Amino acid sequence: MREPLLTFKRGRPSRYLPGVHLARLRLRNFRNYRRLDVEFVPGFHLLLGGNAQGKTNLLEAIYLMATLRSFRGVGSAQLIRHGEKAYFVGGTVLGPERHEIKIYWSATVRNVSLDGRPVRRITDYLGTLRAVVFCTEDLLLVKGPARVRRRFLDLLLAQTQPGYLPLLQRYMVAVRSRNALLRHSPVDETALEVFTAQVVSLGSELIRQRRELLPRLAPLVAQAHHRIAQSGEELQVEYDPAVRNDFAVELAKSRARERAYGTTLVGPHRDELRLLLDGRPAAQFASEGQKRTLAIALKMAQAELLTAVHGSAPVLLIDDVMGELDVKRRSGFLPLLERSRQTSGQVFMTATEENWPRELGRDLERWEVQSGTLRKASSALLQPL
Ligand SMILES: Nc1ncnc2c1ncn2[C@@H]1O[C@H](COP(=O)(O)OP(=O)(O)OP(=O)(O)O)[C@@H](O)[C@H]1O
Ligand SMILES: [Mg+2]
Repeated sequence: MREPLLTFKRGRPSRYLPGVHLARLRLRNFRNYRRLDVEFVPGFHLLLGGNAQGKTNLLEAIYLMATLRSFRGVGSAQLIRHGEKAYFVGGTVLGPERHEIKIYWSATVRNVSLDGRPVRRITDYLGTLRAVVFCTEDLLLVKGPARVRRRFLDLLLAQTQPGYLPLLQRYMVAVRSRNALLRHSPVDETALEVFTAQVVSLGSELIRQRRELLPRLAPLVAQAHHRIAQSGEELQVEYDPAVRNDFAVELAKSRARERAYGTTLVGPHRDELRLLLDGRPAAQFASEGQKRTLAIALKMAQAELLTAVHGSAPVLLIDDVMGELDVKRRSGFLPLLERSRQTSGQVFMTATEENWPRELGRDLERWEVQSGTLRKASSALLQPL
């Protein structure tokens, strides 16, 4: 086995585990890919191709293997190739362990298997392949509603705290049951009390875990922001829980309004992650470029945190993002890519032939993406200008 790299984490020497990477990818009737069988080494992969050739679709398939979701926020039905009835995404993940993933999805059969065994709970599966995606939709982290930022926090906690996802799922079930009761007239007070108690106890634990994450996350975001913005702006990330003091008391106080609205009005499902640039809300005051930089900083922090917690870098999926940044801002990205390289991680980056970041050097695998096919690009085709 390869000797792990000796590196320094928080001033102390620590050993990173051998990089976890996607060694093999198989697609059948996924988006515009009819059939793809491809092998990837660890390291840097540049996916080059014109518009609408399948670059983002490929990243989407890898992200699906990591999270069982699309990063484009669409349902599985849209991932099936037009005119077909099912898709298959499968592959081999190599790291300290070897794993085989198979995802098959049709209108009637939904099947995820890990190492030949069906996956019953998503928590048993998450962590097989960790990925962080950088894409144009990330702008919603800054511009979009609080829900987008909560989803970011939830994914990060699910990727770092083993019990978080089941806790979140149980909380959401309790909230939905409580909402159903609130909408019913007359309200079943006994049942409402039971669900209120559940919402309070599960919700308080969610708040605790989110609160604990912030002191670890916020400095990483500020640091990443400083690197790419390369300006004196001060970025603050603050957790702003909907519950101020006592969850049970605040719920009781909003009871009359809850009846009127038929929904639970207080709780971590209403939390906010505040982003302040020089003390002002970024959504309202930051320029488009500043918002984009901020969104990237959040994702870089996610990658840094995952590396620190798990001792190996997540697979980085970088869609179009580098092309949008000027050279100065792009250079702030390089340390993250370098760290991934040091820890034998894996990076997939898309670009068109005009805008690929040539400062990345030649130490990369280049692929040509064309109409749902992938092939190693010949070096003659892609000589740097
Ligand atoms: N379910 C589907 N079945 C068949 N084709 C699809 C499906 N979903 C998307 N496509 C097509 O896949 C093609 C490639 O999409 P993709 O988003 O991967 O392009 P891209 O290479 O990332 O392009 P760009 O540079 O414009 O971002 C598009 O033409 C799109 O219409
Ligand atoms: Mg694309």
